[in-house]
Amino acid sequence: MRFLSTIPPFNGIGETVRKKLVAGNWKMHGNLAQNSALLLKVAEGTASLDKAECAVCVPFPYLFQAQDLLRRTVVQWGAQNVSQYPSGAYTGEVSAGMLADFGCRYVIVGHSERRRLYAEGDATVAAKVGATQAGGMIPVVCVGETLEEWEAGRTEAVVTGQIQALLDGLGAQAYDRAVVAYEPVWAIGTGKTASPAQAQAVHRMIREVVAQGDQRVAERLRILYGGSVKAANAAELFAMPDIDGALVGGASLDAGEFLAICAAAHESR
Ligand code: 13P
Repeated sequence: MRFLSTIPPFNGIGETVRKKLVAGNWKMHGNLAQNSALLLKVAEGTASLDKAECAVCVPFPYLFQAQDLLRRTVVQWGAQNVSQYPSGAYTGEVSAGMLADFGCRYVIVGHSERRRLYAEGDATVAAKVGATQAGGMIPVVCVGETLEEWEAGRTEAVVTGQIQALLDGLGAQAYDRAVVAYEPVWAIGTGKTASPAQAQAVHRMIREVVAQGDQRVAERLRILYGGSVKAANAAELFAMPDIDGALVGGASLDAGEFLAICAAAHESR
């Protein structure tokens, strides 16, 4: 791992304050009754957690339910995908304008499951980031290496390539209204997590790559970690200077686990 050092660490005097974000990615789980119970518990449990932001990214059909139950709470909501096109003959697709209609704040873009299962490449991801921002929402741009790439020592090259593709396509300003999520594919749903130090090194590298485009944007950028985050490992991840929160899969479906992760973000640093 190469450590660049063009920008100062964020743990000293004059520290850039980046409010931590814990976002749940429900993936294709839930139903009206389960969601209602979960959302009410999450809303109640986060009411006093003002030092961190919490959000849930739900399946499209449940956006109205999320909006209805969360609109008077501190919990934000969002979607897990978006079309790169504004409207038209794209059967089965959902536009950014439609998501904005339901009050979404966040849209997950370029999740590894979409890159792998639906062949979304960097160009598509960049187009979806642009569409999300044009709709007034914040993309949560996912990057991360596969197990094979990790074992081959290619983490830095792969993640840099994914981050750079967006810089090349949309410019550094794209990261000013975005959140990045580093999710090593080998850590998703496997129970394996990158160690806090491993994750920190990659987060730092991501910030350095963005800083080469715009240093101020890089300092403000929130970089989340994702991959088997749970109550038991959240605090040690959040103690790292460049880990600004988490994108949480499985544990976001359990109110107790998710609230404990939100509380760890609230209490960190
Ligand atoms: P898990 O937390 O279930 O490993 O999922 C991570 C993820 O893919 C979040 O987007």
